[in-house]
Amino acid sequence: MSPTLGILGAGRVGTAIARQALRAGYDVAIAASGDPAAIELIVEVMAPGARAVTAAEAARASDLVVLAVPLNRYATLDPGMFTGRVVVDAMNYWAETDGHVPALEAARSSSEMVAGHLAGARVVKTLNHIGYHDLEMDHAPAGAPARRALAVAGDDDAARARAMELIDRLGFDAVDAGPLAAGAALEPGTEIFTGWFDRPGLEEQLELARAATVR
Ligand SMILES: NC(=O)c1ccc[n+]([C@@H]2O[C@H](COP(=O)([O-])OP(=O)(O)OC[C@H]3O[C@@H](n4cnc5c(N)ncnc54)[C@H](OP(=O)(O)O)[C@@H]3O)[C@@H](O)[C@H]2O)c1
Repeated sequence: MSPTLGILGAGRVGTAIARQALRAGYDVAIAASGDPAAIELIVEVMAPGARAVTAAEAARASDLVVLAVPLNRYATLDPGMFTGRVVVDAMNYWAETDGHVPALEAARSSSEMVAGHLAGARVVKTLNHIGYHDLEMDHAPAGAPARRALAVAGDDDAARARAMELIDRLGFDAVDAGPLAAGAALEPGTEIFTGWFDRPGLEEQLELARAATVR
């Protein structure tokens, strides 16, 4: 049976992840903020084969749910929908589009803010540091030479492992970045956010980021 992936957000990133997940053999349930009828056509065109559902249905569809909504919307998500779920936070804070959110600017990492709101969810940060175009350009089968790598940060070991399995299925080497706080090294403005790395390169960048935080 195909594994199912729930995706909240049917914009550029959500539909790109949906297409890549469909290629990887996932059954995909995708939602925007409102009535699924409003995104049926978008989904049919942008991610044919995915199911347009409500946000609650997308969260219920799988124990693995990707958040691809504008970060300034995180507080509108109902935490109850995500209890026990592995929630992949693919979001970034962009003041240009999100507006200035002082709490996010002051936070150690945006994913920890998201996790604080979604108490009961097992939040993992990944998929935020690859452009949505690149997700469909740079994927390669496991074992391919110079396969692009993506980092996975999260406090729950099993949740991190689930997200790493997703990354591998989507066509990327998954590198364990450690705790959710390490997600700060994947945020906009960092080397990892702006760069292209294979596994050794990404491991080196994560090590440099770790060293910089303990200095
Ligand atoms: N640009 C990139 O290459 C890239 C790469 C990685 C990550 N990101 C990050 O990914 C996130 C999404 O970016 P995007 O460019 O895909 O945004 P987008 O094109 O504006 O799409 C946002 C989607 O989120 C939905 N949404 C908003 N609130 C929601 C809610 N409460 N529940 C469910 N769906 C909701 C919107 O639906 P409605 O129309 O119903 O509001 C819309 O479908 C951002 O945080 C961005 O920084 C971007």
